[in-house]
Amino acid sequence: MLPETWPATLGPVICVVGARPNFMKMAPILRAFAAHQPAIPTLLLHTGQHYDRDMNDRLFEDLRLPEPDINLEVGSGSHAVQTAEVMKRFEPVVDAHQPACVLVVGDVNSTLACSLVASKKGVPVAHVEAGLRSYDRAMPEEINRVLTDQIADLLYTTERSAAANLAAEGIGGERVRFVGNVMIDSLLSNRQYARAPAATIAAAGGDAALIGGAAGYGVVTLHRPSNVDEPEMLAALLGVLREISAALPLVFALHPRTRNNIERFGLQNLIDTPRMLMLPPQGYLEMLGLMAGARIVLTDSGGLQEETTALGVPCLTLRDNTERPITVDQGTNTLVGRDIAAIREQTAAILAGHGKSGRVPELWDGQAAERIAADLAAWLIERRC
Ligand code: UD1
Repeated sequence: MLPETWPATLGPVICVVGARPNFMKMAPILRAFAAHQPAIPTLLLHTGQHYDRDMNDRLFEDLRLPEPDINLEVGSGSHAVQTAEVMKRFEPVVDAHQPACVLVVGDVNSTLACSLVASKKGVPVAHVEAGLRSYDRAMPEEINRVLTDQIADLLYTTERSAAANLAAEGIGGERVRFVGNVMIDSLLSNRQYARAPAATIAAAGGDAALIGGAAGYGVVTLHRPSNVDEPEMLAALLGVLREISAALPLVFALHPRTRNNIERFGLQNLIDTPRMLMLPPQGYLEMLGLMAGARIVLTDSGGLQEETTALGVPCLTLRDNTERPITVDQGTNTLVGRDIAAIREQTAAILAGHGKSGRVPELWDGQAAERIAADLAAWLIERRC
């Protein structure tokens, strides 16, 4: 039996966000913690890894996230600098607030940095979206995932394959809880508010007529260093996307890293066609509307692989691996790597009506955050008593 109010001897749960993909995961968790009986007190801590209006403020507004209680304002930097700055600035926060737990989501540098500080201070760490593995150590996120999971006390997973990955790394079942996918909680609760694609394009100064034709349109996002940091690779990808755009107009939501690299490598000529519409990073509700209306999504994002599966929209993932295999096994996702011929062929197959329709995975039902709230509250209260 849980008490009616949060025990006075237990501190708050510090909920950490750092970068864009964290925000849609944390929003439903904060709401579920507030609605739980007893309410779980939280402090929302933003590390400041993402900071500008397009990458940060618009998402906070769309997701109805409260202003962070604490902002570490670390900004951009090399991985070492960014991780170290978060650690240095997070330590005094933990000392000052004596949290019952530090809750981290996903796999960004802030996730690992805050987990490391908390665990060395003996503060329990809860990791949401644990156990995903691409088995590609060249991805910075993979290192962050492996290390965070090793030191987390509670590991909340989105798909059953995660438990096997964790078991293979010696992480026992008693720490692992399969709760479903908080990203899909956000998607389902916001779907009704998704912005119409034509309105999104018009608001960005584009010509909405581009996507109004019978062919429909495709959505593209690219930002992984492996795809956009080398001129040859980026040029090859933009080249095949330009080819595809002759048949299907493409709407890009350009990540700052990609935009900078297109300029730096002098590749503007490859995107200089009215059939490829370049937009700045989009808000959550704009992106949801664009994806839901698309015939195909081409991406290297982790989140979009899951969101397209939930929406039933065919997705081609421009990576050699995925840490989210259920989107391929059960959902609408197909891995095409950076193989230009495969991108061309698989896109043609989808446009010919042979895309996967898929099904929605187990527990991607909009209730994952409630399961986390119930489990975490019970665990913290029992541990304290
Ligand atoms: C980070 C995450 C990645 C996530 C991605 C989503 C890590 C290791 N990577 O990568 O997992 O998929 O966020 O976007 O944590 N920049 C801005 N404005 C901002 C933030 C960044 O212009 O608000 C620029 C920076 O100057 C930098 C570039 O974008 O050059 C990359 O930002 P950074 O946070 O280093 O990593 P991401 O590539 O965004």
